[in-house]
Amino acid sequence: MKYPKRFLFLCCISIITTIFYLLYGSSYSTALQSIPIPFTLLYFSDIIPFSSSSHVKRSKKFSTINLNDSQPLFQSHLYSHYPYLPIHIYTQNLTSLKNISKLILLGNGIFGDRKWGLSSIGQSSTKLMTELSCPFLSNYCEVTDNKTLFPEADAVVYHMRDDINLREARRYRQPEQRFVFALWESPTHTPNLKSYKKFFNWTMTYRFKSHIIAPYYSSNAYIHTSSDYYKFLIQENITKNLNLQFQKPIYRPSDSILDEKKLGTIAALISNPGGSSGRLMFIKHLKRYIDIKVYGRQGEACPTNVNCMKFISKNYYFFLSFENSLCRDYTTEKFFTPIKYPIVPIVLGRTNYSYFIPSSGFIDTNDYTNLSSLAQYIKEIRQDKEKYLSFFSWKENYVWGISGFLTPLCDLCLRLHLDSKPNVIDDISAWWNDDACTRPRKFKRL
Ligand SMILES: *[C@@H]1O[C@H](CO)[C@@H](O)[C@H](O)[C@H]1NC(C)=O
Ligand SMILES: *[C@@H]1O[C@H](CO)[C@@H](O)[C@H](O)[C@H]1NC(C)=O
Ligand SMILES: *[C@@H]1O[C@H](CO)[C@@H](O)[C@H](O)[C@H]1NC(C)=O
Ligand SMILES: *[C@@H]1O[C@H](CO)[C@@H](O)[C@H](O)[C@H]1NC(C)=O
Ligand SMILES: *[C@@H]1O[C@H](CO)[C@@H](O)[C@H](O)[C@H]1NC(C)=O
Ligand SMILES: *[C@@H]1O[C@H](CO)[C@@H](O)[C@H](O)[C@H]1NC(C)=O
Ligand SMILES: *[C@@H]1O[C@H](CO)[C@@H](O)[C@H](O)[C@H]1NC(C)=O
Ligand SMILES: *[C@@H]1O[C@H](CO)[C@@H](O)[C@H](O)[C@H]1NC(C)=O
Repeated sequence: MKYPKRFLFLCCISIITTIFYLLYGSSYSTALQSIPIPFTLLYFSDIIPFSSSSHVKRSKKFSTINLNDSQPLFQSHLYSHYPYLPIHIYTQNLTSLKNISKLILLGNGIFGDRKWGLSSIGQSSTKLMTELSCPFLSNYCEVTDNKTLFPEADAVVYHMRDDINLREARRYRQPEQRFVFALWESPTHTPNLKSYKKFFNWTMTYRFKSHIIAPYYSSNAYIHTSSDYYKFLIQENITKNLNLQFQKPIYRPSDSILDEKKLGTIAALISNPGGSSGRLMFIKHLKRYIDIKVYGRQGEACPTNVNCMKFISKNYYFFLSFENSLCRDYTTEKFFTPIKYPIVPIVLGRTNYSYFIPSSGFIDTNDYTNLSSLAQYIKEIRQDKEKYLSFFSWKENYVWGISGFLTPLCDLCLRLHLDSKPNVIDDISAWWNDDACTRPRKFKRL
C-alpha cells in the first residue's frame, strides 16, 4: 500500500472508530465521566454463544479458591457474605507484612488524568491509603505519577484506554517490576492488544480471574456489618480519626415510599444505545407486555436539578440494569448504583449476579425464556406488597460507602507484599478476548 493510501485508510478507521466510541462507549463511573475521552482503536472479539462462564465457587465460611494460572501462591479468599468477591484486603492477615513500602507508579493517565483522580498523590502514604479506603496499609505503599521514579517502582500500572509510552517502558523496565494491565471496559470496547505479547505481569480488571480484581462494585461498595472488614474499618475509624460516614440503605421501604411510586412500573436510564447487548431492542420488545419508561439520551430527560437515579427510584418499582455488552463478569454501575436505592433491579448481562447480591434481590432476564412470562412475573410482584418488599430484605445488615473506585490499588499493594513469584502474561489479547462475549437474544420482528 502506498503511503497516501494507507493514510487515507487510517483516517477512515479513526473517524469510524471515533463515531463508534461516541455512540457506544461506556464510562467507568460517574466520577470519571467528566474526563475527556481520548481516541482509541477498537477491537472486536469473536462473539461466541452463551456458555456457563467460569465463576468462582461460593461457600459459607472463608474459603480458599483456586484461580488457577493467575493465583497459585497468593491465594484468594471468598467472603462469607455478599458480595462473594475474592478481594484480598477483606481477608488477608496483615500481621505477616514486612515493614517496608512498595512503590506503585501510574504508568499513564486514566482518560488523560495523570493522577487518576487521586487528590493525595505526592502526599503522605497515610493520606493516600486513606483516600483509597485502606488506611491500615499506611506506609506499606506509595503511589506516584513521577516518571523519574520509574526504575525504582515495584509496579507500573497502565490504563489500557490511554496511550502507553512503549519506548520509555522498554528503556526503564526492571526485571523484578510488575507491569499491570488495568482496564474497566468490556472486550467490545477495548483497543487491539495483539502487540502486548509478554509485556504484562499482572492484570487488574473487573474480571474475577484477574490478579487484582477491580470491579465497579468498588465505587458503590457495601459490606455486611458482621464482617471482619467492617470491624477493621470501625477500629481504624477510631484509632486513625477517619471520620468514616457509612450509609444505611432502606431494607423495608415504608408505605409512604411505596405510595409515591406512581409514574409507572419500570424505568431505565440509558445514555448510549449500547451496541452489543441489544438492550434497546430488548426494551422495545418487552414494552409490548408491560410499561417501561426510558430516561437519558435514549429517552426522556430526567427533571433538571435532581439525581436521576433518585428520581427514578422514587417514582418506579423496577429499574432495568441492562449492560451495554454481554461479556463475562462485566457488571457496572448500572447494577451497583440502583441497589443503594429503594428500587428492584432487573438485570441483563453475562454475569452470575448471585455473586454480588442474593438472588432474592434482583430479577434476571436470563431466567425467562420469553418476554411475556417475564412481564407477567414483574406485574405479579408489583401487585403483591410483601413479595415486592422481600426484594429488599437482604440489605438489612449492610452499610454502603466503604470504598472507592480505585480501592483495588490497595489490593495491588498487598499483592506486591505477598506474592513474589515471577509471572509473565504471554498473550494478553487471548486472555482478555477469547470466549469473553455473547451475542444478544434474537427477537421476532415487531
Ligand atoms: C450462580 O451463582 C450461584 C451462587 O453462587 C450458584 O448457586 C448458581 O449455580 C450460579 N449459576 C450459574 C448459572 O452458574
Ligand atoms: C483449575 O484448577 C482445577 C483444580 O485445581 C483444575 O481441575 C482445572 O483443570 C484448572 N483449570 C485450568 C484452566 O487450568
Ligand atoms: C495472623 O498471623 C499471625 C502470625 O503470622 C498470627 O499470630 C495471628 O493469629 C493471625 N491472625 C488471624 C486473625 O488469623
Ligand atoms: C516501620 O518502619 C518505620 C521506619 O522505616 C518505623 O518508623 C516504624 O516504627 C516501623 N513500624 C513497625 C511496626 O515496626
Ligand atoms: C520526581 O522525583 C524526583 C526524584 O525523586 C524528584 O527529584 C523530582 O522533584 C520529582 N518530581 C516531582 C514533580 O515531584
Ligand atoms: C467514625 O468516627 C466518627 C468520629 O469519631 C463518628 O462520628 C462516626 O460515626 C464513625 N463512623 C462509623 C462508621 O462508625
Ligand atoms: C412463555 O414461557 C412460559 C413458561 O416458560 C410458557 O408457559 C408460555 O407458554 C410461553 N409463552 C409463549 C408465548 O411462548
Ligand atoms: C515481568 O514480565 C517481563 C516481560 O515478560 C519479564 O521479563 C519479567 O521477568 C517479569 N517480572 C516478574 C517479576 O514477573
